[in-house]
Amino acid sequence: MRTAADESEILNLAVEPERRRQGIASALLAAALVAARAAGAKSVYLEVRESNAVAIAFYRSSGFEPTGRRARYYQDPPEAAVVMSQALF
Ligand SMILES: CC(C)(COP(=O)(O)OP(=O)(O)OC[C@H]1O[C@@H](n2cnc3c(N)ncnc32)[C@H](O)[C@@H]1OP(=O)(O)O)[C@@H](O)C(=O)NCCC(=O)NCCS
Repeated sequence: MRTAADESEILNLAVEPERRRQGIASALLAAALVAARAAGAKSVYLEVRESNAVAIAFYRSSGFEPTGRRARYYQDPPEAAVVMSQALF
């Protein structure tokens, strides 16, 4: 994650395949949101591959909503990104 002014961006989040669905990413994300608030962020956003339904479901379950789309954001293979964000209180 990185923070600039009052916005934080989640850059990377991954859990080993055999450890998934045990709440690990939820715990990591909760810690990141605490850190974002402490750094002064008022909102958090991230980009995720449009085809990554699992990650999109995960981020939705964690309070993020789709707020935009960036065409040709990824390479190898080329794909659009869904931008998801949530306000911090
Ligand atoms: C996305 C990812 C980080 C989730 O990690 P995780 O530790 O399995 O997630 P959690 O166990 O905390 O899941 C929390 C909730 O997210 C949702 N979720 C997670 N995996 C899901 C799946 N395969 N299908 C549907 N919903 C899912 C569920 O609502 C889940 O709650 P539940 O298990 O009580 O139903 C993991 O699948 C991963 O590493 N994927 C590959 C890397 C990636 O795509 N990263 C994100 C892009 S930056």
